[in-house]
Amino acid sequence: MSDPREKKIAFEKHIRFSESSLWELQRCYYDKVGIDAWINVIPFYITSNPFIATAYAQITTKFIRDWIEKNPEARKHSFYIVEFGAGPGRFGYYTIKAICELLHAAKMSDVLVCYVMTDCTRKNVEYYKSHPALQSYIDKGLVDFAVYDLDSKLPINLLKKNISLSPGTLFNPLIIFGNYMLDSITHDLFSCQDGKLNELLLNFSTDENNLIENIPTDLSRVTVDYFAQEIEKKVYYDDKNIDSILELYKDTFQNTSFSIPIGAIRVLDYLKSFSGDKLLLITTDKGYTHLESLDYLSPSISFHEYGCFSMMLNFHAIARYCKNSGGDYFFQTPRPGIKSAVFCCGFKLEDFTSLGLAVNEWIEEFSPVDYFNLHRQMSDMLNTCNLEAILSHLSLSHWCPNFFLKASKKIIDLLASADSESIEFLSHNMAKLASNYYFMPKSECVLFEIGVFFHAIKKYAEALEYYGKAKPFVGEQFGFFYNTGLCLYHVGKKKEALLNFKNAFRISPDSKETQKWIEYLEETISDK
Ligand SMILES: C[S@@+](CC[C@H](N)C(=O)[O-])C[C@H]1O[C@@H](n2cnc3c(N)ncnc32)[C@H](O)[C@@H]1O
Repeated sequence: MSDPREKKIAFEKHIRFSESSLWELQRCYYDKVGIDAWINVIPFYITSNPFIATAYAQITTKFIRDWIEKNPEARKHSFYIVEFGAGPGRFGYYTIKAICELLHAAKMSDVLVCYVMTDCTRKNVEYYKSHPALQSYIDKGLVDFAVYDLDSKLPINLLKKNISLSPGTLFNPLIIFGNYMLDSITHDLFSCQDGKLNELLLNFSTDENNLIENIPTDLSRVTVDYFAQEIEKKVYYDDKNIDSILELYKDTFQNTSFSIPIGAIRVLDYLKSFSGDKLLLITTDKGYTHLESLDYLSPSISFHEYGCFSMMLNFHAIARYCKNSGGDYFFQTPRPGIKSAVFCCGFKLEDFTSLGLAVNEWIEEFSPVDYFNLHRQMSDMLNTCNLEAILSHLSLSHWCPNFFLKASKKIIDLLASADSESIEFLSHNMAKLASNYYFMPKSECVLFEIGVFFHAIKKYAEALEYYGKAKPFVGEQFGFFYNTGLCLYHVGKKKEALLNFKNAFRISPDSKETQKWIEYLEETISDK
C-alpha cells in the first residue's frame, strides 16, 4: 500500500498503454520470482485443476478427430498444442495426460501430438523440464518446451526437438491454450462518450522511495491517471480489421472505457501464419464476452499486492477480429466468475460436429467456472458434508489432489462409520488421484495422504507403497518414519519397524509414543 503522505512521482506521462514499460516490468517480476510465484502467492487453482484440463483435452481431441476425418493426410503430421504463459506447469501436465488418455480410449494413440509448455521466464521452463511428472511424456516426445514472449512475435524454438515453429512450418492447425495470459500482454485503452472515440493516455505514478532510476521496484504501489484524447481519424492501428472494431464500439457505446488486447490480436495474426492461417485457441480469463457488457465501464488496471497487474480481457474484440478474418468463436452464456472461450481462424466451428458437441458440453453446459464455483462452496462447507457428497465431488473433480488434501482429514473422520461401497470406491480411485500428483516445492504431498487413507482402513501393504512413493517428496520427516514404522509392524516386519521408529525418535526425541514403540520392539525382538 502506498503511504498517502509520500510524494508521488509520475515515472511515465501521457503514454499509450501498449508502449508503457509496465509490460516489461511485469515480465521482470515473473522472471525474478520464478516458480516461487506459485507457492502460496499467485492463486492458480482455478485454471490449473484436472477438471479444466479435461475440458480442454476433450475439445482438443474431438477437434483432432474431426480434422483428420476431413483431412486424412493430417494423420501423417504432428498436431502442435502450445500453451502460453504456462506458469507452474500443472495445467499442462494434467492436459497432456488427459489428451493421451482420450486418444488412447478413441484408439487414436498413433496420432502425433506434441504439447509445448512455454513461458516468458526461463525459470519456469527450467522447472518443467526437470519435473518428475513430465519425464515419461518428454521421453516419448509428447512434451516439449520453449521460452517464449508473446509480445515478441518470433518463431517458437522447441528445446527438446531442437526445431523452430515458424510461419509455414506446420501442416495441421496450431492449437493454442492460454489461461490468465492474454490479459498479461499489451493492451491499449480507449473511451467513448457522446459519439466520440478517445484514446486514453496514461500517467503512472508511485511514491518517491519506490523508484530506482525512474523504475518502480514494487508494482503494487503504482497508481494510474487517465487522459482522454479524441481520435478524429478512422485509422488508428492502420489495420482495417482492428480499426473496424474501434468503429463498431464508437457507434455502439453510450459512455464507457474499454481495452483493445492488441498484443493478443497481433500474436494470433502471427501464429496463424505457422499453419496456413488455421488455428484453434482455447482460453480462460476474467473479462467481457458480450458487446453490451462493455458499455458503462470505467478504466481499470488492477495492481496486485504480490507485485504484478491484470485487467479484464476484452474477449469480444478478439472474437470480432477472428470473425472479421473468416474465423469463428464460441462464448459461454455469461455467468459469475471467469470465462472460457474458443476462437478459431481459417474455419468455422459449425463444420466440425464432434468439436461443436464437446464445446457445448465443456464450455456451455458445465464449464470450468461452474466446476470452480461448486468446488469453492464444497471446500468451504467440508465440515458439514457427508462422505457421499465428498466422494461425488472428488469424482467430478477428476480426482483432484488439491481437493483430496483439503478433505482428507474429514474423510478419515468419516471412515469409521463409512459403508464398504464408499471405502471400495475411494480405494479403487487412489491410483487416479496419485497419477494427478504434480510436485510443487513447500506444498503438501498427496501420495503421503493416500498412504494415510490406506493406513486408516488397515490396508498396510498399500499404505507402505504410498508412503514409499511419497518419500522422495516429503523427505526425512517424523510422520513419514513413524507411520511407516506402524505399517511395517502390522505386516510383521518388526526389525524394519524398529529402524523407522528409531529414525522418527532421532527427529522428535520428545515423542513418548515413539519411545514406547522402540522399547516394546526391542524387547519383543530380543525375546525371540
Ligand atoms: C497470470 S499468470 C497465468 C499462469 C497460468 N497460465 C495460470 O492460469 O495460472 C501469467 C503467466 O504468463 C507469463 N507471461 C507474462 N507475460 C508474458 C509474455 N509477454 N509472454 C509470455 N508469457 C508471459 C508469466 O510468466 C506467467 O506465467
